[in-house]
Amino acid sequence: MDAENEKVDPSDAAGAKGDGGSASDWAAAVDKPAVPFKPDESQAVEAAKEAEELLEAEPDRSDASDNLADDKAPAHQGPAMSITGRRVAIGVDIGGSGIKAAAVDLDTGAMLSQRHRVPTPHPSAPAAVIASVARLVKRIGKEVELAPDTAVGVGFPGVITSGVTRTAANVDPGWLDFDADAAMERVLHRPVHLINDADAAGVAEMRFGAGVGRRGTVFLITLGTGTGSALFYNGMLVPNLELGHMEIRGRDAERRSAAAARIRRGISWKAWASDLDEHLLAIEKLFWPQLFIIGGGVSKRSERFIPRLTVRAEVIPAKLLNDAGIVGAAMAADEREHMAE
Ligand code: BGC
Repeated sequence: MDAENEKVDPSDAAGAKGDGGSASDWAAAVDKPAVPFKPDESQAVEAAKEAEELLEAEPDRSDASDNLADDKAPAHQGPAMSITGRRVAIGVDIGGSGIKAAAVDLDTGAMLSQRHRVPTPHPSAPAAVIASVARLVKRIGKEVELAPDTAVGVGFPGVITSGVTRTAANVDPGWLDFDADAAMERVLHRPVHLINDADAAGVAEMRFGAGVGRRGTVFLITLGTGTGSALFYNGMLVPNLELGHMEIRGRDAERRSAAAARIRRGISWKAWASDLDEHLLAIEKLFWPQLFIIGGGVSKRSERFIPRLTVRAEVIPAKLLNDAGIVGAAMAADEREHMAE
């Protein structure tokens, strides 16, 4: 709202009472309808157009920016597999270094296609990333018979509200306040839903992995290029928790606790475990969880750092390893589709 046009009743201002506000102030505040954030529509349209141009120029070529030649999944031979009778969605995981995707059986969490991986384009601007996602979905479509309305769930390393990417800590700033659901739907021609990557991994771990049956307050902490966090209470997700950016020693905690920080700083597992421990202790002090599930590529090497952690809560490695982000994104897309019905 334009500050000059905003009418303020002085008797309503908390400061005027000197008591920090009263119940009626609170009622007045909640009376005001929250203005939903509206992204710039033309940005999504432009990015979708650019992605389509990239796809036309390089439909499935190994010299495209995302280099499909790096995809280790063997080329599919023969007809696509029928998935009649199965609940299926495509899961995509956009990371700082790679984009991974597969078709997922929503009832078992199993992958029905190969797990494809290409390097994240540099720069990781929306159009280039969307073109990579479209190429991956096309590859998956050759392996499994996708219905036209099979949804695509996309895990993204940032805050997502109503399909809009609101932060971009480890990706191109072009994603800031970008209507990603809309732009991707224009290019993929199927329903698309973005979800924070750590939230996606958490959803999958709670349903099919290390968090099955775990109640109370549970954190999934993903350690990769950044540090992701997902909070569950009795299995219910509280989305977009950004604990990688809580301040520790004057800096974003993920600058020391992310898996990439160990490599970037060239420090030992022991030294890095102590930095991670400091981050987990700070989280524990505020939230008192029963359980930390540690995900991301490093969860394969959990014996190198979990025994060194000193938090009170139980700490266990994630079970689905590299697949959690893909599986959870697919599950979230399906859930959103049913919410929309
Ligand atoms: C981002 C989070 C993300 C995490 C892991 C952080 O820098 O802010 O949204 O979940 O990295 O990718």
